[in-house]
Amino acid sequence: SICYLNGRMLPLDQAHISPLDRGFLFADSVYEVIPVYAGKPFLLEAHLQRLHSSLDAIRMSNPHSYADWEDILTRLCSLNGGGDLALYLQITRGSPVQRRHEFPADGNQPTIFAMVSELPSPTNHGLKAITLEDTRWARCDIKSTALLANVLLRQSATDNGADEAILHRNGLVTEGAASSLFIVKDRHLSTPQLNHDVLPGVTRNAILALAEQYGLPHSCREIHIDELSNADEVWLTSSTKEVAPVIEIDGHPICEGRPGPIHESMRLWLDKLKEES
Ligand code: PDD
Repeated sequence: SICYLNGRMLPLDQAHISPLDRGFLFADSVYEVIPVYAGKPFLLEAHLQRLHSSLDAIRMSNPHSYADWEDILTRLCSLNGGGDLALYLQITRGSPVQRRHEFPADGNQPTIFAMVSELPSPTNHGLKAITLEDTRWARCDIKSTALLANVLLRQSATDNGADEAILHRNGLVTEGAASSLFIVKDRHLSTPQLNHDVLPGVTRNAILALAEQYGLPHSCREIHIDELSNADEVWLTSSTKEVAPVIEIDGHPICEGRPGPIHESMRLWLDKLKEES
């Protein structure tokens, strides 16, 4: 495939980055994953806004305007044949000549990288999850590539034959290792409120907007870990998963082990939004 690196479009296997890159040495970098449908990045503005917030939070300036980002990313998609894709975008604090924890001196250039990969088809058959203590840092609202805790948590899920880890901190559910979480109880949709413990998911936000638009009662609130087993439905959402139903948590069936009716409605509403945009 063709990728973008520091202003150039080139084959992915010819793209090289220095071992002194701060993304490599310190995970001093932020990223985005953007779904592309029929060659068009979905909810691009929301992703670019979150990228801007992540850069702000790690005290980096945005190297491009929204218009320039849009141009680079849509060009990259068409160079790769368009269609349905997952766009990956990462910005690091560059490759200064020495390994030093503090920021490099002014004039240091960031490393800007983007690539595409296959977009997995949405899993409507249902996911299995396990619950785990959230061992991540205190700024999970930043979409940082420092994902070691997420990697270990997801691997524990995989080791236990599950698709995702549902995380909790002080008895409250935060999110999945790489997804946002929703529960449905008595036709009411709930998701944890935004704070430093969760990523402001772009899909999460779209789901909340669709609930509002179609009159599905919804709230952002504290969700106790005990509420999961009593929920009528549990969903995990992300740019690559879309809205995926959870049918088993810690070995116990959710919604009798089947995707639920509210999930079915939400999936149709989301498909409609994808078609319209
Ligand atoms: N992950 N929470 C975490 C910790 C995530 O890593 C992700 C997405 C989400 C969902 O956010 P969004 O709806 O904006 O994709 C929530 C991406 C897909 C990844 O790391 O591959």
